[in-house]
Amino acid sequence: MSPKYPEGHVFYRKFKHDFPQITHAEGIYLIAADGRRFIDASGGAIVVNIGHGVEEIGRTMLEQVSRVAYVHAEQFTTGVLEEYAAALAEVIPMPDARFFPLTTGSEANEAAIKLARQIQMLRGQSGRHMIVGRWNSYHGITLGTLAIGGRKAARQRFLPMLREMPHIEPPTCYTCPFGQAYPACDLTCARALERLITEYGPETIAAFIVEPVSGAALGATVPPPDYFPTIRAICDKYGVLLIADEVMCGFGRTGRWCAFEHFGFTPDILTLGKGVAGGVFPLSIMAARGSLVEELARAGQDVAHGGTFSHHAVGAAAGLATLRYVQRNRLVEEAARKGEILGRMLHEKLDDLPYIGNVRGVGLMWGVELVADKARRAPFEPGLDVAHRILDAARDLNLMVYPGRGSFDGTRGDVVMIGPPAIITEDELRIVVDLLADSIRNAVQPLLGQPSGA
Ligand SMILES: Cc1ncc(COP(=O)(O)O)c(C=O)c1O
Repeated sequence: MSPKYPEGHVFYRKFKHDFPQITHAEGIYLIAADGRRFIDASGGAIVVNIGHGVEEIGRTMLEQVSRVAYVHAEQFTTGVLEEYAAALAEVIPMPDARFFPLTTGSEANEAAIKLARQIQMLRGQSGRHMIVGRWNSYHGITLGTLAIGGRKAARQRFLPMLREMPHIEPPTCYTCPFGQAYPACDLTCARALERLITEYGPETIAAFIVEPVSGAALGATVPPPDYFPTIRAICDKYGVLLIADEVMCGFGRTGRWCAFEHFGFTPDILTLGKGVAGGVFPLSIMAARGSLVEELARAGQDVAHGGTFSHHAVGAAAGLATLRYVQRNRLVEEAARKGEILGRMLHEKLDDLPYIGNVRGVGLMWGVELVADKARRAPFEPGLDVAHRILDAARDLNLMVYPGRGSFDGTRGDVVMIGPPAIITEDELRIVVDLLADSIRNAVQPLLGQPSGA
């Protein structure tokens, strides 16, 4: 039977949907028109880091709208924008950081790769036009970010339209693409960057873009401790700029303001999104070391990126109010503290289940990888769509989690992410983990005995 042609005039992202209508939201709860209360254990797409319905942020935004909502960023500035950037500079540990506010994470990454190209050209390196990405990464939905991203299934139908960019394998120790084990591997995955740069020729590579802690494409995969120092050294050796995409893992989510702080390196360019305004405004940031911006300024060049809604006054007000709320309520520290509790609970409850392959994460960013065959670490057949089955089973129990597919090889592999707002209590964390275990059981047990995808 073909799916029903949808009623109404909204062009939804999915035709086969039965979306509950949410009438309001508070704290960790989404409340539906029919009275159901969903626990938002992933803050949507790992966005609502501070919880829903923070009234003071709404009031600040309204005041800004009443004062001045929009000016064109090539012609004017606003006090709130200056104040916001100064406040960001206090918490984002990049030397003399400069902040270029935009709207979406995809757009911030587009701006980042364009800035990298612009800087390389300024340095007399106009052959450097390629951006190296990683397989099983996600940097956005535009054609530019699909080209650097590594979710094969998402790229497939657009391949003829993409300017293909080189990719290296990610540091997925659980299912190492090289069949090796850390630390005996001597970081083959990181050294692959050097091999690739020398193969293509350093004179062609502008930058390497990477998620310090992987988002949905790899479900909160955390690299080994010496991975990033090795990557940083390789980039420096070959004059390649290092872009950290912290659209998901940044702004306190991992228990540090920036995820790169866990790994002892500093990127040249950083992108933030999602949690920077906690979902109340579509706000993203492209940040750069001051020295890069100075290079542009000294050369008398403007930034080759703009956009009607860049440097938005209401976005800045929303971002500043969110930042102050995070600071006042110590939500970065809370993410670190509660993240440890959440991790412990997840391991205790899930590790021994036959279809749980791996539980990993840091701060309040956790991923659970499902397997059809635990001994062989073999994924389920992609057609079974296990991650989405779990999403549906969780929703039946009024729990919202975030699914990811392709964690094994870009097409196969199912993960479920948990990333609750940092205001969640310990009791609520316990409820989330119990409901998650039930959801996984309800979704996966009927599939046991099905052939694996390996
Ligand atoms: C790591 C990462 N980068 C970029 C993006 C794209 O952000 P947006 O959906 O706001 O364009 C996402 C979104 O999920 C992400 O997780």
